[in-house]
Amino acid sequence: MCGIVGYIGKDEIKNILVDGLRELEYRGYDSAGIAVLEKDNIQSFKAIGKLKNLEEKTSNYASKGFGLGIGHTRWATHGKPTELNAHPHLGEFSYVVHNGIIENYQELKKELQAEGVTFLSQTDTEVIVHLFEKFYKELNDPFAAFEKTVETLEGAYAVLLITKADPEKIYFAKNGSPMIVGNDAKGDIYFGSSDAAMLGKATEVIYLADGDYGYTSMEGISLYHDRKTKALSKRPLVGDKVSAQKNGFRFFMEKEIYEQSEVLSDTIMGRVLDNEIKFDELDTNFFDGINDIKICACGTSYNSGLACSYLFERQAKIKTSIEIASEFRYKEPLMSKDTLFVVISQSGETADTLEALKMAKAAGLKTMAICNVDNSSIVRLSDYTLLTRAGIEKGVASTKAFATQVMTMWMLSLYMAQHRNTMSQEEIKAEIDAIRHIPTTVMVEDNLHEKIKRLSKRYLHGHGFFFIGRDLFFPLALEGALKLKEISYLHAEGYPAGEMKHGPIALADSELFTIALMPKNIHYDKIKSNVEELSARDATILAISPLEFDLADDFIKTKHAEHPMSEFFEMMVITQILALEISVRLGNDVDMPRNLAKSVTVE
Ligand code: G6P
Repeated sequence: MCGIVGYIGKDEIKNILVDGLRELEYRGYDSAGIAVLEKDNIQSFKAIGKLKNLEEKTSNYASKGFGLGIGHTRWATHGKPTELNAHPHLGEFSYVVHNGIIENYQELKKELQAEGVTFLSQTDTEVIVHLFEKFYKELNDPFAAFEKTVETLEGAYAVLLITKADPEKIYFAKNGSPMIVGNDAKGDIYFGSSDAAMLGKATEVIYLADGDYGYTSMEGISLYHDRKTKALSKRPLVGDKVSAQKNGFRFFMEKEIYEQSEVLSDTIMGRVLDNEIKFDELDTNFFDGINDIKICACGTSYNSGLACSYLFERQAKIKTSIEIASEFRYKEPLMSKDTLFVVISQSGETADTLEALKMAKAAGLKTMAICNVDNSSIVRLSDYTLLTRAGIEKGVASTKAFATQVMTMWMLSLYMAQHRNTMSQEEIKAEIDAIRHIPTTVMVEDNLHEKIKRLSKRYLHGHGFFFIGRDLFFPLALEGALKLKEISYLHAEGYPAGEMKHGPIALADSELFTIALMPKNIHYDKIKSNVEELSARDATILAISPLEFDLADDFIKTKHAEHPMSEFFEMMVITQILALEISVRLGNDVDMPRNLAKSVTVE
């Protein structure tokens, strides 16, 4: 989704902006642009497609001495991905970049057009720069004009604006979309819609709150809220840029699959003791008044939530339901205060999940976030947060984030079971032993990767894939299918194996590929019969199981694990690598698949 960067200082501005945008590339975008202001001269460049197109266009340009600039990667919402629609948007003497959606842009645009303003783009963003210039002409004060502009906007926005009317400042505003401002030791100023863009540059940052606005210059940051000045609460920006690079792997997704062992060790660190699960983040009265759980999420996070809803009911004996956030928002849901509302989000910025969370809060529910990004909007809004500790995930197709979400909620399930006395000490101990083994389970062996790579060439065509599983392995089937379709662009569906005969089996023939998840510890005989039914109709079967299965066309043998969750994590890795290798053979952009965004901050 869209990314924003900004800079004030004496270093070469174009390089700083483009470097920052590169760190945000993984979020997905379809055009990019920058504007640089030096004294009273503004230079702007835009290009559709990848950042390298923008770099080519700017190759002969470099700033000299003090100046400032803003940059943007756009993921089209209002208007096609064209150069005219790319940010920054210009007025007569100012430029703006914006993330989010201005909900009242149509009426504002009509008013401005009636006053003679010409619009160049189809975007909602362009109204911001024209409004600002109109108010500036009326008030003759750039800050007052900006303040009035912000007050006129409705919707979600993170905005940076530069203007020849005040050439040493960047104006900023934030409401509903993330925005961070920071500085380095020299006093140079940096902006980013995520701190990934500022790592290695800014040393201390302010995570702006909804309703914050103001301006920055080399004299510092002036922050306002509700027309009053607001104190700056700066935090050190810690993080390691190198860790965000590919480490020799072909793709970020591949690196992130291989990293799962390490990050899962981080996820469980300090939380899994010899005989109990402990979360420092949860206080003892966390469960007071809670009778059931509602989980709400989107995409991969929904799939992890669905898997863990089985665990919550089975282990902690707590009634659990789950909803897709975009559906939940508009179904006029009934909510009661004895429900713990759990949102799951890798980014912590997904608009639908965030809005669902706001609804639950407004209804007075206790809320909890399972999230990978500290200080994200969802984390800041939730009563409780369990961070998944996956580190920056750059591949648009989520892998390690899913793994750590499942692990975090498996531990949460046991934590609740301890509290509710629904499992014996021995049972908890057995779960703890299984958890401790998972970082080893997910290590990718060379032979396995090589085998999947070879197999992948047989799965590049056909009229579709069905990933099937039962129980916990149904959500894993959903996730396996989602991974494949995201990066291969082949049609894939996840299905509960027992449902195949209620419709989908009509599609079965030799060109229908079935990826059968056949663990030995959960309903093996049942899934076996379901796969036999498909095989009898000549479907091509790739079986993933520790038990030999004669009817399979292809077979990936897993280890004889004694715990279903060990089988879950082992099969998760196999489905991830399968999707990766099919995508590679098809020549697709594994890390930045077409049409997708990493962080979906619009509904
Ligand atoms: C986008 C991403 C998915 C992700 C989903 C939810 O669609 O491409 O990978 O699962 O958003 O994102 P979240 O950050 O809330 O987990």
